[in-house]
Amino acid sequence: MNIDTKALAEKYGTPLYIYDFDYIENRYNTLKEAFAGKKSMINYAVKANSNLSVIAHLAKLGAGADCVSIGEVKRALDAGVDRYKIIFSGVGKRDDEIREALEKDILLLNLESEAEMKRVEMVAKELGKEARISIRVNPNIDPQTHPYISTGLHENKFGVEIDMAKRMYIYANRSEFLNPVGIHFHIGSQLTKLDPIREACQIVGDLVRSLRAIKIDIKFFDVGGGLGVVYDDEITISEKAYTQAIFEATKGLDLTLLCEPGRYMVANAGAFFTKVLYEKVNDGKRFVIVDGAMNDLLRPSLYDAYHKIEAVMVDGNVERTPADVVGPVCESGDFFGKNVPLPPLSHNDLLVVHSAGAYGFTMASNYNTRAKPAEVALQGGVDRLIRKRESYEDQVRLEREYL
Ligand code: LLP
Repeated sequence: MNIDTKALAEKYGTPLYIYDFDYIENRYNTLKEAFAGKKSMINYAVKANSNLSVIAHLAKLGAGADCVSIGEVKRALDAGVDRYKIIFSGVGKRDDEIREALEKDILLLNLESEAEMKRVEMVAKELGKEARISIRVNPNIDPQTHPYISTGLHENKFGVEIDMAKRMYIYANRSEFLNPVGIHFHIGSQLTKLDPIREACQIVGDLVRSLRAIKIDIKFFDVGGGLGVVYDDEITISEKAYTQAIFEATKGLDLTLLCEPGRYMVANAGAFFTKVLYEKVNDGKRFVIVDGAMNDLLRPSLYDAYHKIEAVMVDGNVERTPADVVGPVCESGDFFGKNVPLPPLSHNDLLVVHSAGAYGFTMASNYNTRAKPAEVALQGGVDRLIRKRESYEDQVRLEREYL
């Protein structure tokens, strides 16, 4: 970001998330262009960054939404996403969530088990509606990513096997209250290899062909999300190669192609800013203690994820020595980076933790009664607040009346 982040950190305080909306727009347009010539829809995975202004920004560009709870569905609707562009996925939907989704008449409910299909059928019957559904197929493919974010193997809890999917489609096709119009898979997140995606597309493409042969007319082919991004020095999948693999697997089929990118859209649009509180050395080991913590940005603690960390506006020639960047939360796992090369720092110096736009704020918590940080958008060189910093009162609001 080519802006005076120090001034923004002064203006809005720290810890702080800043998102570059122009970058998001560019990402959306690049991916959309790679689908040129085909019917397609980009359903932004709201879980990556569910700030209403972020969703609204993408909605204005034409994006739909992939949601994993009725809360996310409501966010998408609130932010102006067209209801016919909203998909509701997830392994465990409650009856009330199913009901509300059907009442709101969104595009699709993605089903992940036979038992869930029966619940959806029952709720649709109660409402006298026909539920548009898709089935999440688990193609049993190793996505070659971190095991915590790998979802396309039979050992993972997601989706159903091909044979089960077929049986479910046949059942749904006969049901008065179910309309099986889509097929879905999502093999994992932060994917940097195309082959597993290509293979999954082919397996699921063949399944569509066999369903068509028995007159089950699938209209939406949803390849999930997962496109990886650069955190460090990863080589990622090009948009064109990605769509080409999808086109090849669906050759000859009249389908609307859907994808659900989250991280791809927002990870590198965002950065997390935190101020140095203190430095200390324990037995020769250098620690930089900052005002942000694992409750604000959990990825390093939870996945040992790498996020590049730099001191803002420090002369490039200053000597850097390794330091662990840690927060004030009372957990040894509360760190943003280990052995990060950093210049000598003093109280109130600003650090930036890069690539924090996805799964940053959305995974934040109030652990240690810490307030969630503020969020700021940058668009056309103009900054604006898109979420106020939480106050202590915000945190105790639901408890106070019981005191
Ligand atoms: N669609 C489905 C069905 C998903 O489960 C996910 C992510 C996405 C789309 C979006 O995936 P993306 O394009 O962002 O890779 N908290 C973890 C990531 C968890 C991803 C869960 N599912 C992290 O911080 O790395």
